[in-house]
Formats: sequence, C-alpha cells, structure tokens
Amino acid sequence: LKELIVDTDPGVDDALALALAFRNSNLKIDLITTVYGNIGVKQSTNNALKLLTFWGKKVPVAAGSKASLLGRNFEARSVHGNNGLGDAKFPAPDKGLLLNTNAVSSIHKLLSNSDHKISILAIAPLTNLAILLKEYPEDRKKISEIIMMGGSWGRGNAGIFSEFNVFNDPEAANIIFQSTIPLTIIPLEIGRMAQINKNTITSIKASGIIGYSISLMFGGYHSGPDRNTFNIYDALTVSYLLHPEFFTLASAFVAVEIGGKYTRGATVIDDRGKLKQPFNAKVAKKVDVEAFSNWFQKQW
Ligand code: BDR
Ligand code: CA
Repeated sequence: LKELIVDTDPGVDDALALALAFRNSNLKIDLITTVYGNIGVKQSTNNALKLLTFWGKKVPVAAGSKASLLGRNFEARSVHGNNGLGDAKFPAPDKGLLLNTNAVSSIHKLLSNSDHKISILAIAPLTNLAILLKEYPEDRKKISEIIMMGGSWGRGNAGIFSEFNVFNDPEAANIIFQSTIPLTIIPLEIGRMAQINKNTITSIKASGIIGYSISLMFGGYHSGPDRNTFNIYDALTVSYLLHPEFFTLASAFVAVEIGGKYTRGATVIDDRGKLKQPFNAKVAKKVDVEAFSNWFQKQW
C-alpha cells in the first residue's frame, strides 16, 4: 500500500489521475491539496471536493496558493473548460471535507504526526510544495519521494520550451529540484506518447455511469492537435506509481531556467553529464504505450 499526498489543480487530466487513484486499493490518499493552475484555486478546490463526492471518497482537502511565489498565474480555461472539468457537471461538493487549515499547514501537520514517510504526487504548479520546504525545511525528511508531472525534454506547451506546471512557477520548481528529495519526473513528452483517443472514450463511456461521467469531461477538453486525441498527462503519474515497469527512466541533472529572456520556465534535463552536475532526479524517457493503454482501458 502506497500512502500519498496529492497536490493538484483539477483539471481534466488531474480528475482522471484522481479517478485512477481512487479506484485502486494499492494507493491510499491521506490528503489532497489544491493550487491555482488550470483554473483559480477556489474552483480547483471546489472541483477536488466535487470529484471526491462523485466517487464517494472521504479524503480531506486543503486549499493552497492562489498564485506563484512571485504572485503570478496563467490559467488554461481554453484547454480545461470554464469550470476546469471540461464543463461537465458533477454533483454538488461535500464541503465537509474541506479543512480549515491551508495546504501548507495541512501537509506539515500530516507529515509531523506521521511516524513514517509519505510520498507526494505533484500534478500542478509547485508553489504549495516550495512554500512548505521554505517554511518547514525539516519536513523533507518525512517525504519519501515526489513524483511530478512537469517539465519537458524538448519543447513546451506553455512557453516555447516551458511546460505549464513549471512555467507557472519556475522559482518553486527550482526549490523542488534542489531539495534533495528523491524525485521522479514524468515530463510532457511521455504524456504525448500515451494519449487516449475518441475510441477509448467511447469504450469508457460504455462502462456505466462512472464511465459516462468521465466521458463528459472530454466533450469540453481541448488538448490534442485535433479533437480525436487527448493528452492525459497527470494520469500517467498514477500509472507510474502502480506500474513503474511501463516506464523507462533516466537519471539526470534537472534544472529550470529562471532568468531566461525567452526561455523562462524551461527545464534542462541533462542525462549525459554534460553539465558535470550531480544527478537530482529520474526522468521518464519512454513509456510502453501498448501496456499503458491496455491497463488504462481496464480501469473503468
Ligand atoms: C500539465 O498542465 C496542466 O494543464 C495539466 O493538468 C498538467 O498537470 C500539463 O502540462
Ligand atoms: Ca494538473
């Protein structure tokens, strides 16, 4: 059983990641923390609560940052719809799951009270986690690993070379990359390799009310180059937790461009020691698309 904190900005692919995690008894989510990103933090928090209510799960939710460390935020409503969930309607949220402590204090409290280490699944801008490490540096000892969706080997989706989650808060990403916490990165290219298509959605839809509700989100999710394929980036992190054998990882030195004039938020992934820096992460280089797709289709 793997114990987790999920830091998220739901988001259609976040919703899919959560659904996969909720449906798998090998994963136990202790806490969900929310952050700005695909949409504002108020809506992302509401979405996390809606999804929990829909799945009948009782996981505490703590609301986090409304902007980056430098006070900025770039949303992705044109991708995820105005409500962040592809404009699909979910039942009213159970507000009783919302903690009255914020994301950072809630993670700190959970880690301090735990007698063992807990993993963090980071599928959104990294602001909450960066603030945690700044305010409570000793907490890093309680984090067994961070598995994040973010960064890219090559070109980006938010900037020319910058992936959305890192682009939103490069300073925060920098803190995570330098934290010395074991870090596994599932970058943009891996999500692009393992897209789902309309046929997959049709088969999910056919699986009953859950599948039907999931499929509704894709009606308003604009992620692929055409409207036939969809990037489900965040969902890949959950499949990595359950099936690391689907992925080929490379040890690398990973850094983020903070000062770049044209490349702010770009990740530099050096898996060949060119920069002569110690390796600080494992980065997915390949995914077995067939194995992933077979597994994914069986989840509904
Ligand atoms: C990442 O950005 C968000 O739009 C997605 O939810 C995912 O976490 C992809 O770049
Ligand atoms: Ca996300």
